Amino acid sequence: MRQYIYVSTAPNLSDESLDSILASCARNNAERGVTGLLLYNGRNFLQLLEGAETDLLWVMARISADNRHSGISKLEDSFVTDRACPDWTMRHIKLVENVDQRRQALEAELPAGLSDTMRRIILNFAALN
Ligand SMILES: Cc1cc2nc3c(=O)[nH]c(=O)nc-3n(C[C@H](O)[C@H](O)[C@H](O)COP(=O)(O)O)c2cc1C
Repeated sequence: MRQYIYVSTAPNLSDESLDSILASCARNNAERGVTGLLLYNGRNFLQLLEGAETDLLWVMARISADNRHSGISKLEDSFVTDRACPDWTMRHIKLVENVDQRRQALEAELPAGLSDTMRRIILNFAALN
């Protein structure tokens, strides 16, 4: 099992676009056995994806070709024995408005099975304004 985490840039993406991305995730990730979580701060995405390597490559190829975002940059790529988000085909965790409260609010939402490295990366992203 593999876990990827990347960030990308998408200034001012509409709620409709985000909904359409999440609909694609629900369709394709369920079929491919890909799970994970997605954060959007109004300018940047952070996405954690987990699954078998061939399935992740398939999903990443589509994501990389998507012109709704750019500048995809992989932050971490690790082998794991268990999924951190087994029940989430792609959970969009909404960031709270107030940046000072984001870290704490997000911490309560993150799954227990995340490695310390992945958790730190995600929490650091949430603190960016
Ligand atoms: C930030 C971001 C994350 C995405 N994550 C996924 C994903 O996890 N799975 C997926 O199938 N498509 C994802 N997409 C959408 C794909 O780029 C692509 O539009 C979609 O897979 C097309 O599939 P469809 O024709 O079934 O809608 C993402 C797009 C963006 C911009």
